Amino acid sequence: MLADRNVVGLDEPVGTSLRGPHAHFARTVGRAAAYVPDVARFATVSPDPDGAEWDDLARLLGRGRLADMFSLPVVPPSSWEPVFVLDRLQMVWCGGPVEDGTGVVELGADDVPEMLDLAARTRPGPFCPRTRELGTYVGVRENGALVAMAGERLRPPGWTEVSAVCTAPDARGRGHAARLVRALVTRIAARGERPFLHVAKANAAAIALYERLGFETRTPVTFRGFRVP
Ligand SMILES: CC(C)(COP(=O)(O)OP(=O)(O)OC[C@H]1O[C@@H](n2cnc3c(N)ncnc32)[C@H](O)[C@@H]1OP(=O)(O)O)[C@@H](O)C(=O)NCCC(=O)NCCS
Repeated sequence: MLADRNVVGLDEPVGTSLRGPHAHFARTVGRAAAYVPDVARFATVSPDPDGAEWDDLARLLGRGRLADMFSLPVVPPSSWEPVFVLDRLQMVWCGGPVEDGTGVVELGADDVPEMLDLAARTRPGPFCPRTRELGTYVGVRENGALVAMAGERLRPPGWTEVSAVCTAPDARGRGHAARLVRALVTRIAARGERPFLHVAKANAAAIALYERLGFETRTPVTFRGFRVP
């Protein structure tokens, strides 16, 4: 496991993104914040929230809605019903192969229906109709059809999260995911930032792929979701 170095913001990547580079995607009530719904479903509160701040978040999201708190270490009051608890690893890029992006295309607004369809078939994590606007998304096409994609999501200052890494089942094992992640890593490093990502602890194939590309596990994290009372 990596020692904590230069990792300001990574313990609370949603909050540091929404209060920093992604402030233009933020909705807030008091210190509670959330992404605009079609962009991402993540929400956050301050590191030491009191009851009033959870009330603010409830007002922001609406009764009965999902509060996806991502990896936030604090939990809401017991009246917030747990919806999911997911074991993830947070990995950070420590250097490795980069490349020029040959065979990789940048995805635009017209590609969104195909991106949504690919994400629905491969389930790399939540992907919303405007998620593409969070950063650069790249893909691989075979015979015109989008068969693999990856993109940039959270933006804690100095960092960019690689996300939505997925390949259609019948196009796997051809190096598409490796090529796409390398292309993003190259872009991110070129602007002086460091790539990081989150992966399910049980996703051995993806973890092995990321390790080959120069990512190392920084810390296990727990993703939690709750129903707003
Ligand atoms: C994880 C995933 C993105 C990998 O995509 P991919 O395009 O097959 O990845 P690559 O081909 O670049 O690398 C996969 C590795 O497995 C090997 N492999 C061989 N046959 C394979 C097969 N049938 N399926 C998958 N991988 C295979 C590849 O050779 C490669 O190993 P190598 O780098 O030593 O050659 C893909 O399996 C996927 O979409 N999974 C579901 C969504 C997901 O879990 N995303 C990750 C979220 S963090």
